[in-house]
Amino acid sequence: MQTQIRDAASADVGTIHEIYNYYVENCTCTFQIEPETLAERQAWFDARRPEHPVTIAEVQGTAVGWAALSTWNSRKGYARTVEASIYIHHDWHRRGIGRKLLQDLINRARELGHHVIIGGACTEQTASIALQESLGFQTVGQFREVGFKFGRWLDVVYLQLSLEPDESS
Ligand SMILES: CC(C)(COP(=O)(O)OP(=O)(O)OC[C@H]1O[C@@H](n2cnc3c(N)ncnc32)[C@H](O)[C@@H]1OP(=O)(O)O)[C@@H](O)C(=O)NCCC(=O)NCCS
Repeated sequence: MQTQIRDAASADVGTIHEIYNYYVENCTCTFQIEPETLAERQAWFDARRPEHPVTIAEVQGTAVGWAALSTWNSRKGYARTVEASIYIHHDWHRRGIGRKLLQDLINRARELGHHVIIGGACTEQTASIALQESLGFQTVGQFREVGFKFGRWLDVVYLQLSLEPDESS
């Protein structure tokens, strides 16, 4: 199976929106409760800057997943720290697509001069945590019961990947 990774275009916003909303309604991988509107996702896409890319994974011309590097904290001093998001269409799990998207995000983050990538995950999201760990992310902390979804309190683990060994650079 050939998976291509490319920059997302405005024409992909509908697919990004559909893939994401499935998880809003069915999964604790996002703590969003109400489905997003297409207009909200379009506004998100239109506001992206070059240092915060959005990418698409395609199999035989069909978009099956997306990923993004986003601002982690808007204070200027955090500018070189980014948060990674990855969502694979629920019918396309466990075919190596998530790893390809995350590896590509890591490469792009390096090229863009970012210093740290943060990944957050609900502790019950073992796939997300295992994927990140498989590419070198390390757990840096865990918050207890900071989210509430599907009638239960949820813990969140944060992982980080440091891109440059020299802390002063
Ligand atoms: C997490 C997610 C992105 C993984 O994508 P994927 O394409 O299914 O994962 P891959 O096939 O690339 O798997 C890569 C590695 O992730 C881990 N992994 C993936 N799915 C897993 C599962 N169900 N259980 C345990 N580990 C899993 C494994 O380490 C796997 O390596 P292996 O196949 O060599 O064992 C996907 O499940 C998803 O979209 N989940 C909902 C959204 C989400 O949680 N996003 C956050 C991701 S950072």
